[in-house]
Amino acid sequence: MKNASVVVTGLTKKFDVMKQSLTVLENLNFEIKQGEFVSIVGESGSGKSTLLNILALLDNSFEGQYELAGLDITKLKDRQLSLLRRDKIGFIFQDFMLLPNLTVEQNILLQMEYLTPVQQNKVTVDYVEFLLQKVGLIERINYLPAQLSGGQKQRVAIARALLNQPDIIVADEPTGALDSKTSVQILELLQKFNESGQTVIVVTHSEKLAKQTDRQLLIHNRSIDEVTK
Ligand SMILES: Nc1ncnc2c1ncn2[C@@H]1O[C@H](COP(=O)(O)OP(=O)(O)OP(=O)(O)O)[C@@H](O)[C@H]1O
Ligand SMILES: [Mg+2]
Repeated sequence: MKNASVVVTGLTKKFDVMKQSLTVLENLNFEIKQGEFVSIVGESGSGKSTLLNILALLDNSFEGQYELAGLDITKLKDRQLSLLRRDKIGFIFQDFMLLPNLTVEQNILLQMEYLTPVQQNKVTVDYVEFLLQKVGLIERINYLPAQLSGGQKQRVAIARALLNQPDIIVADEPTGALDSKTSVQILELLQKFNESGQTVIVVTHSEKLAKQTDRQLLIHNRSIDEVTK
């Protein structure tokens, strides 16, 4: 059975800039089901990253309701939010965010710090190797980021985001710094994880990539709409 893992109701996000209130998102209503592969598109400045940060529990200053995995997150304290994030979310950044002086393996294992003992116990040598195998980097395990291509760096970042075995993978333009062929490979990789049951929410500028996801949500004029295929 597919549960709605994300339920957003009447979500409004405003920023205060120089004593003025700027409404970026207004009264959004949508759901994302467990196991869906969803892209969020929209022009630059439309509010994609703003929404993604809210969905990934990095920003809880908004109006309206957001339920993640059945939990009303507006009722949670900061500490509970970070625990929920640790348990449920894997975040992938546009510019990889790898530490330059650590190897592929060390960059991935750095994420261990953020895990619970129970989660840490699941991170066996086999699991790290399984992830590296899955992202196709097992031969590069001892390489430094500077010795990797852009696509390879992003694949390390993906493996790192998956260390906690998250229900939801959230990616903000994960292919923004990559050429189109490499972008396709990264998308296929996200697709692979999606097929094993993980929900994937990806922001992208690429129409071509967005078309390959199950559903496209378009942010425009502070609203969100389903793009019909
Ligand atoms: N911390 C902030 N304070 C004030 N305004 C902000 C802040 N963050 C974002 N904004 C504003 O919110 C709007 C949406 O920004 P956001 O980064 O979500 O856009 P985006 O759709 O991700 O754009 P891009 O495709 O260029 O990454 C912009 O007008 C931006 O100026
Ligand atoms: Mg953005």
